[in-house]
Amino acid sequence: MPTEGWDFSWFAGRATEARPSWGYAVSLAGRLAGADAALDLDTGGGEVLDFALGRAARAPALLAATEPWAPNVAEATELLRPRGVVVVAVPQDAPLPFADGAFDLVSSRHPVRPDWSEIARVLRPGGAYFAQHVGPASVFELVEYFLGPQPEEVRTARHPDRERAAAEAAGLEVVGLRAERLRTEFHDIAAVVHFLRKVVWMVPGFTVEAYKPALRALHERIGAEGPFVAHSTRHLVEARKPR
Ligand SMILES: C[S@@+](CC[C@H](N)C(=O)[O-])C[C@H]1O[C@@H](n2cnc3c(N)ncnc32)[C@H](O)[C@@H]1O
Repeated sequence: MPTEGWDFSWFAGRATEARPSWGYAVSLAGRLAGADAALDLDTGGGEVLDFALGRAARAPALLAATEPWAPNVAEATELLRPRGVVVVAVPQDAPLPFADGAFDLVSSRHPVRPDWSEIARVLRPGGAYFAQHVGPASVFELVEYFLGPQPEEVRTARHPDRERAAAEAAGLEVVGLRAERLRTEFHDIAAVVHFLRKVVWMVPGFTVEAYKPALRALHERIGAEGPFVAHSTRHLVEARKPR
């Protein structure tokens, strides 16, 4: 199975994932309609931005997206170019290749690591950051099944309170922050393997070979007890750069 892009349709029938109640992509469409220059960070295969632009009543005159992972740069370019979006390959953790105050909207769904000072820098005064982030200990039932109990520091990384503090330290004003914990079910071991191969940072260095006994035991457990249940965490962030 290809693992590039960010299309999870292959999981249909094999895994289920509850989605946050706020409907990020539809809300993003509304924000895009009110923006003149917009930037989407860590756009992945571009699917979310493409969907939101398809729903937006009006598109910003200037649209850019960044992506660090080469296979996704190509995929996102193909999808987003017809919508007038330039996809820029930007290495992970590198400064954004844009001038100060270049955008009035910066968005992202599930950025790898939000760089708050760079987000604040490229926003014009009065501009907004609108994003859905992965929260603390997301799908950790599965992570800890393979890796064992994780230290508190790892479990609380990505906590919304920490992100609020980091955003404020960068000079942004957090005007909205909502968090949800959502049920995810893995109905067979193939879904577990595909998930861990796609979301490569969950169990670093994951291969079927390296985790064969644990996978076999989990396969038997799912057969005997039913789906493996885990919980993802998400938060919706809206931050403004003061005028
Ligand atoms: C969690 S994805 C979110 C992408 C997109 N914003 C979305 O919501 O569909 C965030 C980033 O993970 C990175 N990524 C995805 N698969 C990867 C892989 N196999 N190896 C390294 N990085 C990967 C990509 O750079 C991507 O921008």
